[in-house]
Amino acid sequence: MSQQIDHVLEETRLFDPPAAFAAGASVASREAYDALYKKSVEDPDAFWADVASELHWFKKWDRVCNKDNAPFVKWFEGGTTNVAYNCLDRHLTTARKNKAAIIWEGEPGDQVILTYQELHRRVCQAANGLKKLGVKKGDRVAIYMPMVPELAIAMLACARIGAIHSIIFGGFSATAIRDRVHDSDVSCIITADGGWRRGSVVPLKAAVDEALENCPTVKNVLVVERTKNDVSMEEGRDHWWHDVMADVSDECPAEELDAEDPLYILYTSGSTGKPKGILHTTGGYMVGTYLTSKHVFDLKEEDTYWCTADIGWVTGHSYIVYGILANGATSVMYEGAPNHPGPDRFWQIVDKYKVNVFYTAPTAIRAFAKWGDEHPAKYDLSSLRLLGTVGEPINPEAWIWYHEKIGRKNCPIVDTWWQTETGCIMITTLPGAMPAKPGSAGVPFFGVQPAIVTEEGEEVDAGHSGLLVVKEPWPSMLRTLYGDDERFKEVYFEKFAKQGWYLTGDGAFCAKDGYYMIIGRLDDVINVSGHRLGTMEIESALVSSELVAEAAVVGFPHDVKGQGICAFVSLRGDAEVDDEAKEKLRAHVAHEIGAIAKPDQIRFTDALPKTRSGKIMRRLLRDIAAGNETTQDTTTLEDFNVLAKLRESEA
Ligand code: WTA
Repeated sequence: MSQQIDHVLEETRLFDPPAAFAAGASVASREAYDALYKKSVEDPDAFWADVASELHWFKKWDRVCNKDNAPFVKWFEGGTTNVAYNCLDRHLTTARKNKAAIIWEGEPGDQVILTYQELHRRVCQAANGLKKLGVKKGDRVAIYMPMVPELAIAMLACARIGAIHSIIFGGFSATAIRDRVHDSDVSCIITADGGWRRGSVVPLKAAVDEALENCPTVKNVLVVERTKNDVSMEEGRDHWWHDVMADVSDECPAEELDAEDPLYILYTSGSTGKPKGILHTTGGYMVGTYLTSKHVFDLKEEDTYWCTADIGWVTGHSYIVYGILANGATSVMYEGAPNHPGPDRFWQIVDKYKVNVFYTAPTAIRAFAKWGDEHPAKYDLSSLRLLGTVGEPINPEAWIWYHEKIGRKNCPIVDTWWQTETGCIMITTLPGAMPAKPGSAGVPFFGVQPAIVTEEGEEVDAGHSGLLVVKEPWPSMLRTLYGDDERFKEVYFEKFAKQGWYLTGDGAFCAKDGYYMIIGRLDDVINVSGHRLGTMEIESALVSSELVAEAAVVGFPHDVKGQGICAFVSLRGDAEVDDEAKEKLRAHVAHEIGAIAKPDQIRFTDALPKTRSGKIMRRLLRDIAAGNETTQDTTTLEDFNVLAKLRESEA
């Protein structure tokens, strides 16, 4: 940690927004930001009421924020609205009616453009299709799909009728689907025959079939035809999307939903083995994603905006679909890999659609830098006016590369810190209002009151690192963990129960200028290519293999992925320690969780280093995985020999 902090202290480069950008920005100066921020924390009810009034409510709320039962808070209590209505119907009486809502490009190069009017029609149809299958308000619908337009349509159709969607990233395995389906008693799954990834078909329907061998609650599976690969369709349970949609009406009034009716569940990794079902509700989430999209991306009516995330992660929920469409903007969606057919695919897309605002992850930026400057250099990227990053800390070298080679030194960069739990961007710069500092996310967004505190809950002075907490509730915060209020309280609010602070799980540092730099997770969560994975989840997967007696998983610094996965494994007595065992274990983890969780290093060991009380010494393993000398106090280590043996074990 201390090394990183020294590094920040050296970071004196500040990048002011170009004057022309600032002049036209929605928040155009530091003074404007300061004034609005002050209002947002001094009178949050008035601030958020103003914002919410820019959107459509069937019935206005009685109370903006109700903290009586904190940490279970309510926003816009008594109000009724509908997120799909605000993303679609609201625009149909304006010039946006025939504006592109979604510009979609498939990996093979096919293209679909849906205007707001057409998207509305398709969403109404899908909503009626779901109703025909018996899906009702409050039912859980799992969505396991490639990045195709029907994915956005399915989400908005659920939102329209008040069904709760639970999107499962298409890279997850059958086991992961089954766990999520069980956890929230899903009754309907929407999937596709397959999706395109690096020129091959990802067989999504087959994974669903495998998962469903053991899921009695699922009555219907809706299958979008995308890749036309052979799939088996179970009579009575499985239906082709196009058949169901062929004979339903394309009119479907949006359900009047309570502001606190659930909108979606999204599972994310935590410190324990079981993923947490983050629950977001209707009104607050809508208002939060709407306002952050408007100011952080400085959306203009004529902008073409592209977020390269997969909708299976929260970034895609908030900033491909909900926040962007609520602003009536044009959202680009791309199905496939960034390097297919060549490493220039993203730049080709930016050039082709004249993308103005581009939002991606540091891991992607590091990969592009590695693939070579010649790829972006071939294209006209002059349409770009704003760049963003999300998902993990961005190292200043990657930031500078992004600024020079993609932004051509003309575009502000917003480094946006937030989490699945927070629903929307919490710490960032506002691109026209203040300079960016490479490596630092920036300042709190409106209404957000962060602090850096010690384990004991004392605020630390500027320049010192500590735990990042949020002191007051904000509209788009998670409301609970699905079906587990106790765990919600325990994970996020128990540590600082007295103060009522939300514990982010991240370590951070606030410089004297008020800019926050996020250092990374303090819990057993690692961030691999911007994807959150729990070390315990990977350990459980490893231990479920018949070869393994015990396993410990830690992250280590990785050039491109940010963090890589290192597994220390002791095998059962009779298992052979060889490369074949390594490959078997990697395949096993892919089967249990998904390919993203495959360990980069597997180190076999006879025993794991433990304290006398039997706790695995993870910090020590982290040092070994990173190839660092151990500076840790090892006096509590049970067996000193273990350490020496671990160092010898090759990766
Ligand atoms: C990390 C993704 C540094 C952080 C939206 C957080 C970041 C976790 C940044 C949440 C950033 C996200 N700088 N770290 N700009 N953005 N993180 O839930 O550790 O997938 O807690 O949400 O990613 O990951 P999640």
